[in-house]
Amino acid sequence: MARGEVLAKKGDKRLDIPACTECHGNVLTGQGDYIPGLLGLPADYVKKQLGSWRTHQRRATAPDCMASVARRLPVADIEAVVGWLSAQPLPTHTKAVPMIAKKLPMDCGSVKP
Ligand code: HEC
Repeated sequence: MARGEVLAKKGDKRLDIPACTECHGNVLTGQGDYIPGLLGLPADYVKKQLGSWRTHQRRATAPDCMASVARRLPVADIEAVVGWLSAQPLPTHTKAVPMIAKKLPMDCGSVKP
């Protein structure tokens, strides 16, 4: 759980993985119109999405930042971050936070107009 929380909120510089919160919003309910929330989802579903990015079965518009995040995460870290995410209570406000002016930590094709 501790490792999962670190990945979600701080990321891992050594593995070149930004915090999930930097893109999915500070409370992980999504950011703007194109970055979905990560809370309230079944753990199996979230693991399946990360696995599909690793095996090229799920693709987003290039540059596919989530494919890079999923491939840089060791399998044990996928377990850790998904375990932590699925243990979080759903916040009262589940709306995505507005897109902030600050640049995303990686280029994401899905977010481009
Ligand atoms: C650089 C920005 C960025 C970072 C960092 C990031 N994500 Fe994402 N994530 C995205 C974008 C953009 C999408 C939407 C991709 C698409 O269009 O399919 C996404 C989608 C997802 C989805 C698919 C959700 C669904 O409903 O299908 C999951 C799961 C996910 N991210 C997990 C994570 C986790 C876990 C972390 C942290 C380890 C993380 N992401 C870090 C940008 C990011």
